Amino acid sequence: MKSILFVCLGNICRSPIAEGVARSLIEQGGHSLAVDSAGTGSWHVGEPPCKHSVAVAKNHGVDISHLRARQVKKADFESFDLIVALDQSNYRDLKSMGCKNLVKLGDYGHGGADVPDPYFFDGFEGFENVYAMIESCVSRLLNSVRPELVEG
Ligand code: 4NP
Repeated sequence: MKSILFVCLGNICRSPIAEGVARSLIEQGGHSLAVDSAGTGSWHVGEPPCKHSVAVAKNHGVDISHLRARQVKKADFESFDLIVALDQSNYRDLKSMGCKNLVKLGDYGHGGADVPDPYFFDGFEGFENVYAMIESCVSRLLNSVRPELVEG
């Protein structure tokens, strides 16, 4: 099966939402594509997604509460067909680790804008915006990679 890995900084706010949204869209479409997420940093390894990410996903019928953070590793660049960075800084870090099969989520909508890092947001406000941005970009990404990666 083909596979996509979403990568942000901590793997507790943005990339778990991207993973959950992608899995939900793939299931809804009856397609076959493995998805996962990871962070470039190690601070939150083993933790569930932040409570606001869990809540906003739940508002949209997507359960991400069971996900646990992990750090990206070089072997991921071989085992995943496509690596998707959530912002420019993640993109740069992944490039410098030698990742070649790499795109930025913003390339699939919102004029190439970065998905803003919500870690330092004040409360829940802002998470709906982050969710909407991730959802529209992930949807376009899946449509665009469909002929190559998505089976069924
Ligand atoms: P994420 O958000 O990259 O969307 O998971 C962050 C989570 C944690 C930190 C930064 C961003 N941190 O600095 O610990």
